[in-house]
Amino acid sequence: MDLILLGAPGAGKGTQGALLTETLGAPKIATGDMLRDAVRQGTPLGLQAKAVMDAGQLVSDDIVLGLVRERLSRPDAAAGAIFDGYPRNVAQAASLDLLLAELGRGIDAVVYLDVHDDAIVERMSGRRTDPETGTVYHVVHNPAPAEIAGRCVQRADDAEATVRERLEVYRRSTAPLVEHYRQAGVPVHTLDGGRPIGEVQADLRAALGR
Ligand code: AP5
Repeated sequence: MDLILLGAPGAGKGTQGALLTETLGAPKIATGDMLRDAVRQGTPLGLQAKAVMDAGQLVSDDIVLGLVRERLSRPDAAAGAIFDGYPRNVAQAASLDLLLAELGRGIDAVVYLDVHDDAIVERMSGRRTDPETGTVYHVVHNPAPAEIAGRCVQRADDAEATVRERLEVYRRSTAPLVEHYRQAGVPVHTLDGGRPIGEVQADLRAALGR
């Protein structure tokens, strides 16, 4: 199954996608994670992407397409993938359609996680990531175990001003994709992403019939 998780920054795409990988037998392809890896490794691509990400803007479509193409060619993505943070605009959606068509596949479903702006800001300020495993926690809603909490870090782009910019970019470029996929006849499941993590996951599985 090829599934897209859509939603504002902090809507819970990464959290829900990570919980779903085993059930669907498909990896999570998260362009944000791939770009942060490149930044950490200091690759030319990472150096190029860093300033754009720190400003809360979108990295160029070509760079992201190259990353997704390479990731989709790996064996674990042969039967499907969970796309988290990709596509981000209509041009990326068109590229993804072409990429999947080359593999004889297409998007099976889109899940839109609907979360109020106030909750988004609160989630971003409390988000912490384990740099060793990439697991995402929240200081209140999903605290890291005591032995891990000390090494968890805050994302550079979770500063309040950058979060506001990311929300603007989301509204302008990414939110229209919900209607884009509806018009294309792809099943779009809208879920209340403001509920607790386990409840959202249960809704998600029910929507997908898993
Ligand atoms: P990216 O990493 O994709 O960030 P994002 O879309 O802004 O989404 P987030 O990762 O911030 O949030 P999420 O929805 O995954 O929420 P999470 O599960 O972590 O992109 C970052 C940057 O990279 C972009 O700004 C851009 O520059 C670049 N980029 C990436 N992809 C790109 C692309 N395709 N094209 C161009 N540029 C691209 O949850 C957030 C917090 O809330 C966590 O602490 C979590 O524990 C908590 N939480 C989750 N669910 C719940 C819940 N139900 N209740 C309470 N707390 C919850």
